[in-house]
Amino acid sequence: MSKIWYPYAQHKTMTAPLQVESAHGVYLHLSDGRHLIDGISSWWSAIHGHNHPIINDALHQQIERLSHAMLGGLTHEPAQECAENLIRICPKGLNHVFFSDSGSVGCEIALKMAIQFWRNQGNTKKKHFLALKKGYHGDTFGAMSVGNPEDDCPSMHDVFSGTMPKHFFIDEPKMGFIPDSDQLKKDISQLKICLEAHHNDIAAFICEPIMQGAGGFNLYCPDYLIAAKELCEHYNVLLIFDEVATGFGRTGTLFAANHANITPDIMVLGKAFTAGYMGHSATLSTSPVFDTFHDDDFKKALMHGPTFMGNPLACTIANTSIQIFESEDYISKIRSIEQTLHQEFSSFTHPHITDIRICGATAVVEVCDATVLQKVQEYAVNHGVWLRPFDRFLYTTPPYTISNECLIQICRVIKDWFSIQS
Ligand SMILES: Cc1ncc(COP(=O)(O)O)c(C=O)c1O
Repeated sequence: MSKIWYPYAQHKTMTAPLQVESAHGVYLHLSDGRHLIDGISSWWSAIHGHNHPIINDALHQQIERLSHAMLGGLTHEPAQECAENLIRICPKGLNHVFFSDSGSVGCEIALKMAIQFWRNQGNTKKKHFLALKKGYHGDTFGAMSVGNPEDDCPSMHDVFSGTMPKHFFIDEPKMGFIPDSDQLKKDISQLKICLEAHHNDIAAFICEPIMQGAGGFNLYCPDYLIAAKELCEHYNVLLIFDEVATGFGRTGTLFAANHANITPDIMVLGKAFTAGYMGHSATLSTSPVFDTFHDDDFKKALMHGPTFMGNPLACTIANTSIQIFESEDYISKIRSIEQTLHQEFSSFTHPHITDIRICGATAVVEVCDATVLQKVQEYAVNHGVWLRPFDRFLYTTPPYTISNECLIQICRVIKDWFSIQS
């Protein structure tokens, strides 16, 4: 019997996890001597690859000084510097940073902030959210409740059906990144109709901008976000961008919000924020949001405070990661990854494949039936690549430091898998 309870796993039927001994650059080194290219940056987090010497060095120095001090009543330079960095690089106007320990918790905080934003102004009716079908915001209760709804089967969290608060959902935008203009109009119209009908009950509209992640890798266009921003302002609904997966370059711009050049009221960062070293997240808000909490009445304060929020080691990693990202012009690296992904996949087809989507440093192959991908992980491992498909999606989100040769190896493994399918 396994002592570790593994994620998203049926222990009775799962294959034994591979034993990782160490990792360097884009490689995971297994204890049996094999080396695998980490084709998904260990769940989109290790954007610089593993064991980065500059981050390691900064971390060692920070450990010698201060590895943790609670932010309740105390503060420290790594967290202060990190808040300043985030405010500098995030869309203009996100001036306040609340740290927490994971993307899910970062989203919970965003939802709590949105509800309390209205309560602090005397409005208790706005306690629901509007979210997109095929969305994913994490595995905690609030985050699950705004993820793909339970009646849209199969939903990842079906088993909790009936236990979560009820919110409003509209179809995921279907117009694509380069939009079909008729479909764009339909998608915006659906958003408008829902806001028109229910804005009195809705605290915020939450979405993963440009690219929905684990709910199905749906890509949509900046114009939808621009329209969403205008509609939310018009109907007095806050706009929350969950950039846990899209943040730090994954869609080709530093943040997905940059594609549309807009600032949401609240934005959540995670995953790549701490470069694959440890879990941490940040929920940023604009000053108009923060100001409603700023009061003589203590009850208007945000009642949240994870033990490890703003942890000095996590903040040091984030600060160093941002410094590397900027000084080594990662946006150019991401552009070149995108170019290679296009070259490799542009003319690739197979009867089992229904779509291939590429955006920034992400490529997704969607197949008609999940059984097509049943043995692909084992095949990829046998060919030196670590991938983790789910449902009908086989994807790569490589570290931005990947060489063209290794990137081509990942693409070839994906393509070769289909070439041996009947
Ligand atoms: C868009 C998005 N939001 C939130 C989360 C949850 O983050 P975490 O796994 O760090 O709790 C994820 C994780 O995959 C995500 O992709």
